[in-house]
Order: sequence, then structure tokens, then C-alpha cells
Amino acid sequence: MGIQAEEHGIRPWWESAVIYQIYPRSFQDSDGDGIGDLDGIRCRLDYVQKLGVDAIWLSPIFPSPMADFGYDVSDYCGIEPMFGDLASFDALLADIHARGLKLLLDFVPNHSSTLHPWFVESRSSRDNPKRDWYIWRDPAPGDGPPNNWTSDMGGAAWEFDALTGQYYLHTFLKEQADLNWRNPDVRAAMLDVLRFWFGRGIDGFRIDVLWHCIKAQGLPDNPPNPDYRPGMGEKFLVLQTNSADQPEIHDIAHAFRQIADQYGERLLVGEIVLPLPKLMTYYGTPDRPGVQLPFNFLLLDAPWNAHSLARIIADYEAALPHGGWPNWVLGSHDAPRIAGKLGEAQARVAAMLLLTLRGTPTLYQGDELGIGRVTIPPGRERDPQDLRQPGLGLGRDGGRTPMPWDDSAHAGFSATEPWLPLNDDWLVRNVAVQTQDARSMLSLYRALLALRREYRALSVGDIRVLSSDTDVLVYERGHESERILVALNLCEQPRSFALPEDFAGAHRLLSTLDSPSLPGTLAPNEGVILRLENM
Ligand code: GLC
Ligand code: MG
Repeated sequence: MGIQAEEHGIRPWWESAVIYQIYPRSFQDSDGDGIGDLDGIRCRLDYVQKLGVDAIWLSPIFPSPMADFGYDVSDYCGIEPMFGDLASFDALLADIHARGLKLLLDFVPNHSSTLHPWFVESRSSRDNPKRDWYIWRDPAPGDGPPNNWTSDMGGAAWEFDALTGQYYLHTFLKEQADLNWRNPDVRAAMLDVLRFWFGRGIDGFRIDVLWHCIKAQGLPDNPPNPDYRPGMGEKFLVLQTNSADQPEIHDIAHAFRQIADQYGERLLVGEIVLPLPKLMTYYGTPDRPGVQLPFNFLLLDAPWNAHSLARIIADYEAALPHGGWPNWVLGSHDAPRIAGKLGEAQARVAAMLLLTLRGTPTLYQGDELGIGRVTIPPGRERDPQDLRQPGLGLGRDGGRTPMPWDDSAHAGFSATEPWLPLNDDWLVRNVAVQTQDARSMLSLYRALLALRREYRALSVGDIRVLSSDTDVLVYERGHESERILVALNLCEQPRSFALPEDFAGAHRLLSTLDSPSLPGTLAPNEGVILRLENM
């Protein structure tokens, strides 16, 4: 897409867009069961629109026994009754489009729920026509699992099924059986799923664990991981050399892309957790494109200093293939809250970073309120990853707590006790309070998103890192004659930075603080955005 579009000055919508991730269980409950739903999301669209984002990505909303909260799908073409039905989905999609927003759904191709009718059939006998839709193997000689692969959720990646005396593969929970992507009927059925939702009018998909979908022929053992240390989680016992990122995955990604392209300008975002050079292969090649945005998770683990951030930006930009559009992620339903990791002051700086880097940002619900670490009281943990490997700190519940809307009962999220507790400070940290406060995190996010809309330099411009010592990161964004400078102080002392020499004037557009600092100086924990006037 890139090159031709550039020449004609037309860009696909998603290059200048900001994606907002909604975790449906935790956004807004409309029917009083303590769990968010589609009608709830629909009645909060005003909020989403005023925030200033462009596209919503919904984590899975399909029928599911909820062993992994929707990432265990039992019907790819329906809506989970707890969330609504196809009519409420269509109504939501229509309202989203009426507001000029886009909608991405979450496609989970690597595995289905073991309650999916396909798996129920597959498990029923060795000669069932759907047997080969999943990955079944005899026990290893002398018994035990067929190979040494471990599940990402802990334990072996194999579950023995006494009925037919074989094991099936599950990269995640035993309730999530891996589909066999080497079977053409599986491919055809799953491509039909894409057609079904594109046909209903959605604007794209985020694709769950894309790099896992196809496994090495013959399922050979994985090599042991020399860096494994107890406490890391058993998924790290072996390197996933044979269980993920196989060359054939690119045929699958390309097949997804071909379908998407048949519906016009549709976006595919791939969840891929791999080192940069491997990650980049998921863009595909000009004649065989893959997904437009392989998620870039580099900021999630970034050491929080200017030097490391500058290195990450440089490495990422340098690794991008020609025509590949960048993207950045700061939070998700799988990651600890950014404000919990960095504290509120630096979370403001991080917000400025996310929304001023070159590329499509994905913003996770609640981060715009600066929700920090939430303590989940004993007995209220829900994340299966945590419950299966307790004590390792792998719990994802803390990042999935309900949106606090106001200071009414249950924070306006639900008429009843929510499925997960609220953030401890919800009485003061909620949408209503932060909307009134010009210095709140929410107001900062709105201001940043408004600037991104106003200045092409921020949404689609080039990036040039100007300087990065340990504490201050300075970069310039430029588009045609427009120039924007971003300077971020990552420490708790005042700092100064050198402005470029070739400009006539600098106007401060936004600061993360309301301190009146001079151009070239930064208060502790301050980030600023300046507009540079050309000479
Ligand atoms: C992805 C999802 C995560 C889920 C896993 C298995 O990583 O983001 O929440 O547990 O896939 O589907
Ligand atoms: Mg509900």
C-alpha cells in the first residue's frame, strides 16, 4: 500500500489513526450482571469519540465458556449472550460508524474452545471427519506427552483424552485446543469467518497470537532454554523454535490479507511477540503482503531512560521494511498498567511519548485515567494464567479492572458488584472527576489526541531523534513545512536541552505539567511539545 499511496498523497485511514482497545468485560455493564457488554459500550461511545481516538479494537465478544475470557471461542460467527447478540452488535457497529469511528474485532485463529462443536466432534472418535482439524498425537513411547512443548499458561502443552487414547495440543489452556492450520478445511472455514465479519461491515481485525498458528512438520521437540530460571513461568522452559514462527505462517497471514483487501481498506493488526528482525517479516513482502501492523510491544518492557528509548526508536525505525508503517503499544489487557510501573508523573510523559512517536498508537482503556497497580484481594483473582501458576506474579487481573466512570455505586460501571474489583482510588480517579480537571491524565490524553489531529507532523510526519542523554529524550517530527519538537524529561530533576539551530521561533503547544518553563528547560518529570517556526 505504502508507496503508491504516498505518491498520490492518499493514505489509508489507519496510518493517521489512534486505536483504542476496549476490554468488553470491563468497559460498561448495561444489564446488571457485573460484566460489561455491547449495549454498555454503545452508551459510552460519546466518551470514546470525545477522547479523540479513531478506531476501537474490541477484545473477543464471541460465544465462549470464558476459560480465558473470550480467547476461547466456541462459535466464531456469533456473539456471546452475556455481551449481547448479533442485533446489538449491528447496532453498536452502526453507531460507531455514524460517529466516524472504525471497529476492529479480535480474531483468534490459533485455537478454539474445547466446547466448539468442531472440537467436540474431533474428540469423539479417531475417525471423525473433524479429527484432523486439531492436533492429536499418540502418547510418546513409554507413555507421556508426545513432545516436550510447554503451554504458555504453564505445564505441558498436551492434554490426554482417555476416550480415544491420544493427546491434543494446547499452546494455552487445556480448554483452548490448537487448530491444525495444515488442514485445508480448517483454513477454508477460518477464512469464511473473516468474510462473515467483513461482510457485516467491520473495519479490521486484531489477530491473536498470529505467530503461533502453524507448527513445524512432525512436531519435533523444542530445544531447552539455557536462560530458564525457576519463577519465570513454565512456558520459558523451552525455546519455541518448533512450536511457533514457522515459515508457512506467512502464507496464512497473506491469505488473511487477501480476504481483507477484497473488502476495501481493511486493517489487520497482528499480535506477534518476537525479536525485531522476525517481527518485521510479518509485514510480508510487496507481492505477498502480510498484516499492515505487526504489533510493536517494545515500549512495554523498555528500561525507562532516554538512552534506551532512543535506541528502541532507532532500532525499530531501522528494522521497518520499505513501505512498512510503524505502530506503538503502551498497555493491553495482558500487561501491567503503565502508571503502576512508572508512577503517575512519568505515566504522563509516557502518554506524550506514545502519542507523538511516528506510527499508529494503540491506547488501552483506563490508561487514559492513569489507573495504577490494583490489588486484587485473595479469592477475587480470575486470570487463569495466575490461578494456574500462583505466586509468580503473572496475574493479568490488575490491568483488567472495570472502567471507573463516576463516584456513584460501583463507579457507574454496573448496578451490581463488578466481576473484578475497581481500582482502589476510583472515588477520585474516574472519568467524571478527570473530565472536570484540566490537569488530569484524561485531559492530558485529550489534549495530546487533539494535537495529533491538528498537526500532520504528529500524525504522519517523519521522526528524527535529536538527542538522548540518560534523562532527556528530544525528537522532531516534520511534515512538509510543519515542524514539531518533543522533549521528555524522564527524571525527577530539572533539566535543559538544546533546541535545534535552524528555526525562527518556538511555541509551546503542550506540557505534561502546568509549569511555565522556558524553551530549552524542563521541570522535573516534564514533557513538552513545541511548534517550531521556520526561518
Ligand atoms: C493473546 C491474548 C491473551 C490470551 C492469549 C491466548 O496473547 O492477548 O489474553 O490469553 O492470546 O489466546
Ligand atoms: Mg452485562
